[in-house]
Amino acid sequence: MSNKDITKLKHTLFMCNGSCCNKAGAEEMILELRKEIRACGCFEEIHTVRTKCMGRCDDAAVIFVQPECVWYKCVNKEDVKSIVHDYLINNKIVETKFLYKHGESFINSDAIPNAT
Ligand code: FES
Repeated sequence: MSNKDITKLKHTLFMCNGSCCNKAGAEEMILELRKEIRACGCFEEIHTVRTKCMGRCDDAAVIFVQPECVWYKCVNKEDVKSIVHDYLINNKIVETKFLYKHGESFINSDAIPNAT
């Protein structure tokens, strides 16, 4: 049981832990991501939550970041450092993993854009 001080949060990451994402290495990536967040001293500012399927299985493994509503695709444990340092700390989109930002009309996916 835990009670995080959510008043200090800058980002919340919803990390898919559904079957497709797990087949794509999500669990390994999630553990690495949490390790990196602690290592860089950002634990108080970045919250991570495992979810079930988020409806983008062809883009597995996916992460959805709030409050900015940015989606990342095909994230594996090798991408963790750039997601944490480039994006979460320095606010620079990781273009190679960018999937979608709410409000835009383009989904950067090789899959059918609205397939579930
Ligand atoms: S299992 Fe992750 S999006 Fe479907």
